[in-house]
Amino acid sequence: MSIYAKLEKCLECVRKQTDFVPDVAVILGSGLGALADEIKKEAVVEYSSIEGFPVSTVPGHKGRFVFGYMGDVKVVVMQGRVHFYEGYPITDVVLPTRLMKLMGAKILFVTNAAGGANPEFDAGDLMLINDHICKVPNPLIGANVEELGTRFPDMSEVYSSRLRNVVRKVASENGVDLKEGVYVQLTGPSFETPAEVRMCRFFGGDAVGMSTACEAIAARHAGMEIVGVSLISNKAAGISETPLTHEEVQEAANLAAPKFKKLVTDSVSRFGEFLK
Ligand code: HPA
Repeated sequence: MSIYAKLEKCLECVRKQTDFVPDVAVILGSGLGALADEIKKEAVVEYSSIEGFPVSTVPGHKGRFVFGYMGDVKVVVMQGRVHFYEGYPITDVVLPTRLMKLMGAKILFVTNAAGGANPEFDAGDLMLINDHICKVPNPLIGANVEELGTRFPDMSEVYSSRLRNVVRKVASENGVDLKEGVYVQLTGPSFETPAEVRMCRFFGGDAVGMSTACEAIAARHAGMEIVGVSLISNKAAGISETPLTHEEVQEAANLAAPKFKKLVTDSVSRFGEFLK
């Protein structure tokens, strides 16, 4: 089955459960799923009810789309995502992103927990993503999905400058010290070695993680406008003085959850001005 045919089938499964048309798609990263409880809920669709949809195996990741409102803005929120390291083909990893585009979303707000490769970053910081380096296979490899976008899409501004301005403004109004930088997606699931972190730093990376860049590529290909925030859950290997654990990542996410929630929900509420 072609990728587009698979997407149409998934969309049909969703549409049997809700006819809600979102304007903004939000992907919640590790430990950040609680944000979905903030929205005025209109519908919930479990990933397991969608034929052919990849379902996550990671603890701390639920698996469902939550539809509703942030302010007056219609959103679909992914509570839980799948990662390349779970063994799915990269085209399946980005299927949910493409599906949200087909549901109607024009803007993608992508979030993740990441390690700080920039030595100035501390655990609990939030980083506005201004660009990325994708060290997993490009999700557009294979026959081009013509219905979504062009064969050779431009990537010179993956993260929208006008949406980044909104997030910066919301952060400053709320007294949030928002860092900015380049996100590097590696495959995982092992955390990086100190040498790999030094490599990422040398390449211009500020944060390292196991998601996001592939989703952003697929979204950009499909013409979505993107913005992204990383929660720096730990200093990356070699900068951190202690070995890294998944539990540490989740704890840091829980601690930073309130400021993170406020930044995402207030920013999304203001994206309404770009949707008219
Ligand atoms: N490395 C990769 N992914 C991560 C990290 C890290 O240090 N922290 C949270 N996700």
